[in-house]
Amino acid sequence: MSNSTLRDIEALVDAQNGRVTPSIYTDPEIYELELERIFGRCWLFLAHESQIPKAGDFFNTYMGEDPIVVVRQKDGSIKAFLNQCRHRSMRVSFADSGNTRAFTCPYHGWSYGVDGALVEVPLESRAYPQGLCKEKWGLQEVTRIETYKGLIFGNWDASAPGLREYMGDIAWYLDGVLDRREGGTEIIGGPHKWVIDCNWKFPAEQFASDQYHALFSHASAVQVLGAKNEADKALGAGQTARPVWETAKDAVQFGQDGHGCGFFFTEKPDANVWVDGEVSQYFRDTYPEALARLGEVRALRLAGHNNMFPTLSWLNGTATLRVWHPRGPNQVEVWAFCIADKAAPDDVKAAFERSATRAFGPAGFLEQDDSENWVEVQKVLRGKRARNSKLCLEMGLGRERLREDGIPGVTNYIFSETAARGMYRRWADLLLSANWEEVQERTRQYTEELVK
Ligand code: FES
Ligand code: FE
Repeated sequence: MSNSTLRDIEALVDAQNGRVTPSIYTDPEIYELELERIFGRCWLFLAHESQIPKAGDFFNTYMGEDPIVVVRQKDGSIKAFLNQCRHRSMRVSFADSGNTRAFTCPYHGWSYGVDGALVEVPLESRAYPQGLCKEKWGLQEVTRIETYKGLIFGNWDASAPGLREYMGDIAWYLDGVLDRREGGTEIIGGPHKWVIDCNWKFPAEQFASDQYHALFSHASAVQVLGAKNEADKALGAGQTARPVWETAKDAVQFGQDGHGCGFFFTEKPDANVWVDGEVSQYFRDTYPEALARLGEVRALRLAGHNNMFPTLSWLNGTATLRVWHPRGPNQVEVWAFCIADKAAPDDVKAAFERSATRAFGPAGFLEQDDSENWVEVQKVLRGKRARNSKLCLEMGLGRERLREDGIPGVTNYIFSETAARGMYRRWADLLLSANWEEVQERTRQYTEELVK
């Protein structure tokens, strides 16, 4: 990577003053550096344990653009491998998921065990009369695998901090989804997969930091939903319920270590108006258990946006958990999973899936508003002048604070860009640093500066 690209990155992101130059969303050289220093170094979500319960179960995914197969081992442990034959680079596993005793390459037939070892080479003694050291040619194993409450993550970098340390305070917020009930969560059905013509950082940033867009981008959907809302009906014809930002007693945005989320504090365990009645009833019925496990703030939190850096996003109460797989600087592949409590009855799980698909599936009525924005933004950035014109990330600048009510991490009011600034600072720190020690030192300094 050229020194000029690295110099550029320092100039392109000015988190302290809330400025970003949008060539970070288009530059192919920066994208290559992201694959190496972000997707090659960070903890990336691979799969949920419920997707591969038995020995030999596998699930195919990606780390950055690298195809990865995640496999349950005979001893119950989990390994993940680069899905690349060591002979001529063919994929060795094609199905989205399944159960197998071996991965046999469809090109020349090399065969690998579920532990990644090369076990069978057709015509071995005739084709390799000099001998072939099969031990050397097993599948490349993902350096580190760790799980957090059912979620499986992989990391190529042996020197990275452990998963729990990497997560920092976003774990507290994520528990609001993973830990509501005894038995944890599971994935319902297969993921929806679709492609959006925009850089991966737009959706990641929005899920980390942007409640602001909902007022405007989703205005028409919110109006339609509002008309269906019982609370509205109770007010009588011609009146509408006051918006949540006027009625909520408080609202918070969290942004630290590149992660971010935001939500309003509500007084009752009410789910979003777009979910089915069965889902709303389920949240009311299970509220006492959630309250006992998580405390009031998280038990009541059935809305809001989240992103764990770089590419794992979710929405509370809506059951969508998604990964933004990068596909070059100008495209992202979305994989949206439906996640629900394992202990939920089957009809409620089905209602969760229907609700998530209706609102946030590939043709979801809220999802489309968002995709449309990202695609249009990416089109504008084809212009050379546009690509080099600084963008304003000043919302709530200088208003960061640590709270004293047990809500952890660097926070701000929900309508702010603390999490976006933190995300781009972390992004730049990863690209600029030679190793994780340096990254962590830079993050520590930035965080200290914010809340001093
Ligand atoms: Fe796999 Fe040749 S590419 S066996
Ligand atoms: Fe949105």
